[in-house]
Amino acid sequence: MKRVYLDNSATTRVDDEVVAAMLPYLTQDFGNASSTHQWGQRAKQAIEEARHQVAQALNATAPEIVFLSGGTESDNLAIKGVAQAYAGKGRHIVTSQIEHPAVLNTCAHLESLGWRVTYLPVYREGVVRMEDVREALTDETVLISIMHVNNEIGTIQPIGEIGRLVKERRDAGQSHLFLHTDAVQSIGKIPVDVRELGVDLLSLTGHKIHGPKGVGALFVRRGVRLQSQLHGGHHERDRRAGTESVPLIVALGKAMELAVKQLPERMEMTRQWRDDLEARLFERIPYLTRNGDPERRVPHISNLNFDFVEGEGLQISLDLKGIGVSTGSACSSGSTEPSHVLVAIGLSQETGYGTLRFSFSKDNSREDVEYVAEVLPNIVEKLRQLSPKARGLRGS
Ligand SMILES: Cc1ncc(COP(=O)(O)O)c(C=O)c1O
Repeated sequence: MKRVYLDNSATTRVDDEVVAAMLPYLTQDFGNASSTHQWGQRAKQAIEEARHQVAQALNATAPEIVFLSGGTESDNLAIKGVAQAYAGKGRHIVTSQIEHPAVLNTCAHLESLGWRVTYLPVYREGVVRMEDVREALTDETVLISIMHVNNEIGTIQPIGEIGRLVKERRDAGQSHLFLHTDAVQSIGKIPVDVRELGVDLLSLTGHKIHGPKGVGALFVRRGVRLQSQLHGGHHERDRRAGTESVPLIVALGKAMELAVKQLPERMEMTRQWRDDLEARLFERIPYLTRNGDPERRVPHISNLNFDFVEGEGLQISLDLKGIGVSTGSACSSGSTEPSHVLVAIGLSQETGYGTLRFSFSKDNSREDVEYVAEVLPNIVEKLRQLSPKARGLRGS
């Protein structure tokens, strides 16, 4: 059976070049980067090269990059690290209602410890509004944490504009206000430049960009203090204790290098496939709507509501045909409630039940689109025939 993987926002296949780059560090150059002998020094050199690759991809400098275990840890370190380091300056954080649980639950944890958190709305288009950001800021605000790209609906948040606002406030004397962005879903999908965005902290992970799982990074602008979250050795300039995973870090460096080098063609390819799939589905499936601002979204994600059918049923039927998609974010699937993102953009309970996310990567092809466009309309029709609500619609 043909197999089509369209869940690249959940995770991606590791690139062959990335595997080739990391393998020697599992068997040949297996040293501990903290050791002073040649094995250790080779490991250390590999890590520093990867740090340079990641920094270059983001327009950062190497010392501003901290390696850690992935997006979740990166978000945790950024938010708790800054909140705790600057607790004496203020205890207010601004975030959005559509953040990943790695941000939302970290903020909730800080709330339980006495911090105040403002969760900005995103409206039907799924984008935060600058007037809301401006209004939320107080002299007590130490951190704004807003994701660059939403993982479910793919909307791009106005991080550059927020960066400029933060700079204005700092120039006006609020020197302890910082901007963090979760860029897990934007790296390798759209251009990401930490200076242009004006961010102080930025989180990323390897497995969304054809790197392995279990490795990520945090960009921390020079001069920003962080309270380390792990107690242990002096690794990563005292910002993240624990023996560095050399093979995974090397892999992340390579994946970042490739993501930036191939960005224009990856964007172009995935946009074509995504738009083609949407066009074909809209042509053949009635009662179909799209979520998220159609302009301000990444090229590779399509989030669609199939009225009168349940997303779970659609997903299972597609899986039986060899097609992998998601009913929401990977982290929230398995639950029967519409995701917090769909609720935040104002979808009704019922509409939110019939939502699928299609997410492309460079590994897809035109044939994949053709196959899904051929199979899905029939599945939707069959499921609607079984749905009492859809039957009511047909007057039977
Ligand atoms: C926006 C966003 N942030 C954070 C994460 C967590 O990253 P990781 O899986 O590397 O912990 C994800 C993963 O789905 C994500 O989509």
